[in-house]
Amino acid sequence: MKVTIVRDYNELSSKTAQLIIEQIINKKNSVLGLATGSTPNGMYKELIRLNQEGKVDFSEVITFNLDEYYGLSPEHPQSYHFFMWDSFFKHINIKKENVHLLNGITENIAKECKQYEALIQKSGGIDLQVLGIGNNGHIGFNEPDISLNGRTHLVNLTAKTIRANSRFFNNAREVPKQAITMGIGTIMQAKKIFYWLTAKEKPGLLKEQ
Ligand code: F6R
Repeated sequence: MKVTIVRDYNELSSKTAQLIIEQIINKKNSVLGLATGSTPNGMYKELIRLNQEGKVDFSEVITFNLDEYYGLSPEHPQSYHFFMWDSFFKHINIKKENVHLLNGITENIAKECKQYEALIQKSGGIDLQVLGIGNNGHIGFNEPDISLNGRTHLVNLTAKTIRANSRFFNNAREVPKQAITMGIGTIMQAKKIFYWLTAKEKPGLLKEQ
């Protein structure tokens, strides 16, 4: 494992954008695993800038997002589907058919999860997975006590996660109580993973590293 300490959020955003660019330069049809949350915003902005300046080409890149709230439609402003299109995909030259997001309003959760896993396999597996860490240590929506072998599945969100994510909603009651997430087993199959930890927001987690 390689640890890089950065000075501030701008450096975090440009360094992580650079890791993605290197991946795409090495393999133009790279399969990226992507995250939402607050931390990736700067990295997505930097990637948009570099794409618009012609320094990175997403035309053959394939993406799979980590997770989605169960019960929110793709059009819902707090869905991860909406977030990803609004803050990233619509600004770059990625093909719509190469973008994969879980369907938060699926009527058949088991089928949705199985299909997602099959699509990841069919695309050759994730080359580079981007991960954030929740303030209770969650990865995707996998809470700390979850099985390390799990595949994409439905989870109940803990009260702590609901509280933390209520900052994106009007209040905690509006936060969905469940989500669909790649499992730790799915994530660990990625060929490379990088994750970030911001000292200011998560000092406790940083001490544990
Ligand atoms: C988002 C996700 C979450 C976030 C985590 C950290 O797709 O899977 O695990 O990465 O909650 O979020 P921020 O970046 O807001 O601290």
